[in-house]
Amino acid sequence: MTSEQQLHRVNVIVNGELKSAQVPARMLLSDFLRHELGLFGTHVGCEQGVCGACTVVIDEKIARSCTTFAVQVQGKEIRTVEGLASDDELHPIQESFRRCHGLQCGFCTPGFLMATEALLAENNDPTEHEIRDFLSGNVCRCTGYVGIVAAVKDAACRLRSGEGEGE
Ligand code: FES
Ligand code: FES
Repeated sequence: MTSEQQLHRVNVIVNGELKSAQVPARMLLSDFLRHELGLFGTHVGCEQGVCGACTVVIDEKIARSCTTFAVQVQGKEIRTVEGLASDDELHPIQESFRRCHGLQCGFCTPGFLMATEALLAENNDPTEHEIRDFLSGNVCRCTGYVGIVAAVKDAACRLRSGEGEGE
């Protein structure tokens, strides 16, 4: 067996649940999430760290899962878009994207949602400039950014008012 074929144990907490798998050293985190764990919400677009569709949260920092190897997240905590909603309730950020038409085909949306959550965690009342600046690493090809910016502002407002807490 070559070193490329050797498998490595990865234990990771994903959306609050412990997951364990044997993976090749070269398996990307995006492939691990989608194909090993069946979490297809994390989308893969450019596979080069450019489009942001694959954005997830690793130990409370947003990261590109297409440029991270699965073995690098050994022992870490991951959150994906599947972890946003609780039971049948959309997360306030998801609800704002729905209400403000912040998506069309939805391919880019998981990455925008995770990036928006990170933005609002550090700045609960961002200006339009701050929103556009923070989300500049996420590419939307079909909706444009007007609805997305409106959705982020709407989400910030609703989160400040405590909407969605304790749901
Ligand atoms: S698929 Fe990862 S940044 Fe585009
Ligand atoms: S909603 Fe289609 S790429 Fe953004």
